[in-house]
Amino acid sequence: MSSASSKPGPDPEVIAVACDHAGHSLKTVVIKLLRELKVPVTDLGCASPEESVHYPLYGKKVVDALLAKPRARGILICGTGLGMSIVANRFPGIRAALCHDIYTAILSRRHNDSNLLVLGGRIIGPDLGKEIVRTWLNTPFDGGRHQERLDLLEQLAREACPPADKA
Ligand code: RB5
Repeated sequence: MSSASSKPGPDPEVIAVACDHAGHSLKTVVIKLLRELKVPVTDLGCASPEESVHYPLYGKKVVDALLAKPRARGILICGTGLGMSIVANRFPGIRAALCHDIYTAILSRRHNDSNLLVLGGRIIGPDLGKEIVRTWLNTPFDGGRHQERLDLLEQLAREACPPADKA
């Protein structure tokens, strides 16, 4: 699916990737693909599938990478993708999309301008995972009415949780 009205988005300056133990195998596949595609990648762990780790800690590493660099994007992988998407979407500015099919990956970019792709390493296989990543990377944001909705989303989130007073 493509749209003549889609605006080309800027190339991400870096893709920050992290996983927990349940996402490690798929993370290895995804990082290999990103390197083949010559996309700059930062691997933020975890380092092995052997040791059970806490997904919120790894989710927050990618969130921090995105908040530090406006054009960065992220990929998070846990067993189902649910834990990582719950973590990431707590932070204003993050639009994490859990995608287990191509159609959702396309719409997460066109309508939601998702800056973080979440995958479930126990839900999808490596070939579908790679195709979802390729699609997500290559699909631009439509803008227009969708930008208005994203602006509203950020406004509501910041009203609910105003930034801490740094004075
Ligand atoms: C780990 O067993 C599993 O709970 C985690 O990877 C994730 O699926 C949580 O949402």
